[in-house]
Amino acid sequence: MVSPVDASGSPYAILIVDDEEGIRESLELTLCDDYRVFTARNAQEGLAIIEREKIALVIADQVLPGMTGVEFLEKVIERNPSAIRMMLTGYADVASIMRAVNEGRIYRYIPKPWEPEELRVNVRRALESYSLTTENASLAAALRDANERLRQENLYLRREVQRRYAFENLIGSSPAIQRVFEVMEKVAGTDATVLLSGETGTGKDLVARAIHYAGARKSGRFVAQNCGALPDTLLESELFGHKRGSFTGAHEDKKGLFELAHNGTIFLDEIGETNPGMQVRLLRVLQDGEVRPLGASDVRKVDVRVIAATNRDLRKLVQEGAFREDLYYRLRVVEITIPPLRERREDIPVLAHHFLEDASKRMNRGIKGFTNAVMDRLVAHQWSGNVRELQNEIERIVALAGDADTITVDMLSEHVRGRPALDDASAGGAEAVDLADMNLAVDDLKRKLIRQALEETGSKSKASEKLGIPRQSLQKMMKRLGMKDPGAE
Ligand SMILES: Nc1ncnc2c1ncn2[C@@H]1O[C@H](COP(=O)(O)OP(=O)(O)OP(=O)(O)O)[C@@H](O)[C@H]1O
Ligand SMILES: [Mg+2]
Repeated sequence: MVSPVDASGSPYAILIVDDEEGIRESLELTLCDDYRVFTARNAQEGLAIIEREKIALVIADQVLPGMTGVEFLEKVIERNPSAIRMMLTGYADVASIMRAVNEGRIYRYIPKPWEPEELRVNVRRALESYSLTTENASLAAALRDANERLRQENLYLRREVQRRYAFENLIGSSPAIQRVFEVMEKVAGTDATVLLSGETGTGKDLVARAIHYAGARKSGRFVAQNCGALPDTLLESELFGHKRGSFTGAHEDKKGLFELAHNGTIFLDEIGETNPGMQVRLLRVLQDGEVRPLGASDVRKVDVRVIAATNRDLRKLVQEGAFREDLYYRLRVVEITIPPLRERREDIPVLAHHFLEDASKRMNRGIKGFTNAVMDRLVAHQWSGNVRELQNEIERIVALAGDADTITVDMLSEHVRGRPALDDASAGGAEAVDLADMNLAVDDLKRKLIRQALEETGSKSKASEKLGIPRQSLQKMMKRLGMKDPGAE
């Protein structure tokens, strides 16, 4: 028989407490080949050893000087609850000991006289169960620690994410974007389905997250799925889940995003790309709050807020018969249209400064700002890729800027530096401008923006804030553009 050893590889320690020397010696003889054996003549000595040594098993006599064995073992429990407790008894009536055994206070009793071999087997079994309990206990403690760490980490990440997608990170002072923010704020506190529309790069993703993280569902998940990115079956399995074997490659049961987003929000990006079959399934979730995984016979209830986005004209798709009308109305309970950047050029300076500051900090550069000529070009550019294109342009410049402290025209990429396209300025209400002369066109636009800002804010300092330029620059610019100073009137 191989003797069990503890986790560090040394033999287990056993304590024998008996006032009869003969019994102590014969027990010691029986066990000392396999274990480290300690002996004590009475309870005090025994407890002193318990305090000092890592005792795995205690054998106590039923009657000790000044204390019963049961009382002694009670004290052992207080000091070392995991030690296995055994009792020697010389009486035929073992009722009181049986009670202690049944209450779990004593592992087993050993009737005197004992068979040495039987005792070894019993001790051996007891220690096996001891090693399992202590191992379990330390595993449970490690698990508790790991769980607590995970919980903390989760909490931290959640706060981090909430901060990153907070409303404050949405930038823009134009009336058009301010209207978007107003609707967002109102809708964030509700469960209403939201349809976001807008060209690529206008901020649909950012807006969807901000709505989720500003609402009551923020402690639930935000899951996003691009509906145009996957073949039909895979998209269906992503969204609704599948049962094992429901299609080639489905090796395991899988939960869908709707189930994962339970109590949270699902963001269905590029909803205009879905096929008719998928549209029926989406309609069912929106109507009944039920999903059926691929290959499953049962449906599951989910409580999920839906935010959908598209850069296509869904109404037109409906007219063309490419998008279900009923689904369209289900989705656009609240519709938020994010205007393209070229229709809210007032936002360009603030956004440009914001991205500059951000990139400059991240890349450890000391760039302070843009020359007026650069800002003119940024404001005049067409930005077909919208905010994303502006952000990329500025990040590219910062990355290549070296130790320059101001961004100059030669640093702009060619298509931004070149002739600005202003063909929609008239659609925005501006006077017709001479496209042949870029400088004139830009000056015209500036006048229009400044006038608008002054009218809206009523003061030069507020107007300069709105335009995202220092007050002195505004003053200089107005002078150069031959504009009247309202404060001087
Ligand atoms: N108002 C804003 N303030 C600050 N950053 C913005 C704003 N709008 C957009 N951005 C930034 O512009 C980039 C593009 O935004 P986003 O990914 O949300 O656009 P999108 O509408 O989802 O585009 P796509 O249709 O191509 O998916 C992101 O880096 C986003 O952080
Ligand atoms: Mg997007």
